Amino acid sequence: MNNRELIDKLNSEHALLHEEWGQIFDTWDAYDLQYAARLANCISLERFGRKIYFRGIIEFTNVCKNDCYYCGIRAGNSNCARYRLDEEDILKCCADGYAHGFRTFVLQGGEDPYYTKEKICGIVHRITEEYPDCAVTMSIGELDRDFYQALYDAGARRYLLRHETADAEHYASLHPAGMALESRMRCLKDLKEIGFQTGCGIMVGSPYQTSEHLAKDMEFMTEFQPEMVGLGPFIPHKDTPFRDEPAGSVDKTLLVIALTRILLPDALIPSTTALGTAEAEGRQKGVLAGCNVVMPNLSPMEVRKKYMLYDGKVGTDMSAEAGIRTLRAQMEEIGYEVVVTRGDFTYHGRNQAGE
Ligand code: 5AD
Repeated sequence: MNNRELIDKLNSEHALLHEEWGQIFDTWDAYDLQYAARLANCISLERFGRKIYFRGIIEFTNVCKNDCYYCGIRAGNSNCARYRLDEEDILKCCADGYAHGFRTFVLQGGEDPYYTKEKICGIVHRITEEYPDCAVTMSIGELDRDFYQALYDAGARRYLLRHETADAEHYASLHPAGMALESRMRCLKDLKEIGFQTGCGIMVGSPYQTSEHLAKDMEFMTEFQPEMVGLGPFIPHKDTPFRDEPAGSVDKTLLVIALTRILLPDALIPSTTALGTAEAEGRQKGVLAGCNVVMPNLSPMEVRKKYMLYDGKVGTDMSAEAGIRTLRAQMEEIGYEVVVTRGDFTYHGRNQAGE
């Protein structure tokens, strides 16, 4: 079968054989990308209409105990000025976001032991009490099952934890000893079992990534059936071991996005900041290849430049308000309307919030 036939097969069977994924990633061309992106965009339009869900992201700490080779806030980066937002700062971000209409808050941070289970659950509890009409999404890395359960009990309902790669050796080449794919997978499994809407994902074009690895990523997603998938190009950061590695390609990222949409028609797939950083129109292209979410940054202006996962991150020089305006304009430019509702998983055109 040629690649376009494989894409049709994916659309009807929602799975491909390992060799078939491998063939696509080894041999795709611009026409295959266009074919996949159009189909993915049609699937999104059918499911979600010309609507893009907005989620406000609050980057509340850039302290991290991990030393991932790709990431600008890795523990070993002594050039990174560290910050932590306290409970009041975080609640202020939520209040501002709420006033702008946001009904989903994403709390993202490095793996920072300062935020103990009690502390972070207290914050989540306060947000869900004060904003009972809002969804809280967490993105704070690998934790014990108990910790995840406590977050769920405090009211968090979604969790983002990219698997980064589904190949154990590739995982080991991106992370120092002490971090292993096995524990990442254990976390993802725990999160799903507890009942979180769970997000996984990868950087496209991360160092040493092969077609074989991407095939494994697609097979992992086929089996895991994540509710959300975060996908962006790898972008080097000057203070990391991967400073001289080439950035991932925008087109290849768009291909992975499109194939993921075809594989998982109902998934929430954000058009990521990394995509918008790699190319000025990256986020619009993401939407046209199947993305249905964008995540404006609600973090206070003073800390934005300190949450630099990679060089050149867009939006760090503007206020939350300006960032929201820019993203809204980008979406309207391609004929999409921004919606700020909780935007839960859609079932037969209706989501859990009955919208
Ligand atoms: N380029 C692109 N994405 C990155 N991330 C971390 N560092 C980089 C980088 N240099 C992504 C990882 C992580 C998410 C929070 O950000 O996939 O899971």
